[in-house]
Amino acid sequence: MVAWSWVSVDTLRASARSRARLDFLTLDPTQLAEVSDPYPLYAAQRAEAPVARAPSGFWCVTGYDEAEAVLRDSRSTTGPIGARYREALPDGSAARTELGRRINLIDPPDHTRVRGLVGKAFTPRRVEQMREWIATLADRLLADAETIATIEGAVDLLPVVAHPLPSLVISELLGVPGTDRALLSELTEATAPLLGVSVPADDWERGLDASERFAEYVEGLLAERAQAPGDDLLSALIAAEEEGDRLTHEELMSLVVTLYAAGHRTTRDLFTNGLAALLRAEPAQRAAAADDPKRATEEFVRFATPTHFVGRVPVEPMEVAGEAIGPYEPVLVFLAAANRDPRRFADPERLDVTRAPDPPPLSFALGPHFCLGASLARTEVEILVGATLRRWPEMSSAEDDHGWWTAGPFRGLKSLRVRLG
Ligand code: HEM
Repeated sequence: MVAWSWVSVDTLRASARSRARLDFLTLDPTQLAEVSDPYPLYAAQRAEAPVARAPSGFWCVTGYDEAEAVLRDSRSTTGPIGARYREALPDGSAARTELGRRINLIDPPDHTRVRGLVGKAFTPRRVEQMREWIATLADRLLADAETIATIEGAVDLLPVVAHPLPSLVISELLGVPGTDRALLSELTEATAPLLGVSVPADDWERGLDASERFAEYVEGLLAERAQAPGDDLLSALIAAEEEGDRLTHEELMSLVVTLYAAGHRTTRDLFTNGLAALLRAEPAQRAAAADDPKRATEEFVRFATPTHFVGRVPVEPMEVAGEAIGPYEPVLVFLAAANRDPRRFADPERLDVTRAPDPPPLSFALGPHFCLGASLARTEVEILVGATLRRWPEMSSAEDDHGWWTAGPFRGLKSLRVRLG
């Protein structure tokens, strides 16, 4: 096992053992998998103290207003988290170089500079232009699922539809050749454990190896695009310029890996977590979602949050909800808990796809690190939800329990087996 954390895992485990009753503050956030439903724990903690310090040393923020305050505060940084990740990786490895430049783990002024340059290339217009392509892809994948269901009586939408779609979309966006798309999806999966807290040695080694291969691949792609630019995002990122400044080679490499890593499982889980909840809800909800998949997607974003928490490290003392958070005391902002704060959402534990999206859910965070791919993710899921419900209005779940997988803050279904009629 390769175990490390910005707060020691052993401390977390010891503090969990020392308390007889499982409560939220003694729950190691990396062990969400052991809890079949963390929402009751979130609700209890939020009601007791929306900002509270766990015995492990983590500050846990579970209220909406408090989460918003931390995320918007310029004293909240992510650079020290990036530094801890880097320390755990071998010197000179591709993973260490790449993580050193990850846009979500750097602070201003570097972050402001990189984000400004990326914003010139990754525009809302570029996402809108993908709409038709995504719709055609969704139809093709759903047709594959239908063929399987016709033969087998049911189909697992996770591997057949939800998993491939976001990865293929990122590849298309970046202009990665069709023949290489499966490889990049595989490498993204293999590198994911490098951001885990307690990683089996084999997965760690595989992750490091995949990271080298990923870097090598992107290196070749960058060289090709620099020679012969296309109208894809990668060419636009290479060309992006602001006052004579451009993204460096390492920054470009890191961005490509980050786009795959940040945009794949999250988008997949938004669709599957949300659809599973919809299939459990009263039938009128399904009809409403079919009528307005855009609004339904927004409710999925709130109710079926794929990224349960984000980390912040304040560099100066910060007061939130009357609690004094000291410099460098790590903070976990529980977006999933904030999204169900009864002080901001009526009947928050109920999926209601007709709900007005006000206030906005925090699933894509807020402030300087607000998710760069939020509109892409929303577009993909809206198209997929609409196409799925139009095609199979009578679909139903074929499993009592789909099971959950978690990795760090990410939480998604293990499968989504459905019958189509
Ligand atoms: C449902 C799908 C998604 C969810 C729930 C999600 C969630 C998030 C969250 C919570 C953050 C903030 C992290 C932090 O503050 O520490 C973030 C940042 C980011 N996301 Fe997403 N994301 C999704 C899809 C995507 C997609 C499709 C892409 C790109 C193709 C993407 C690219 C990024 C990038 C590059 C950042 C870092 C932005 C920065 O630090 O300036 N995400 N995402």
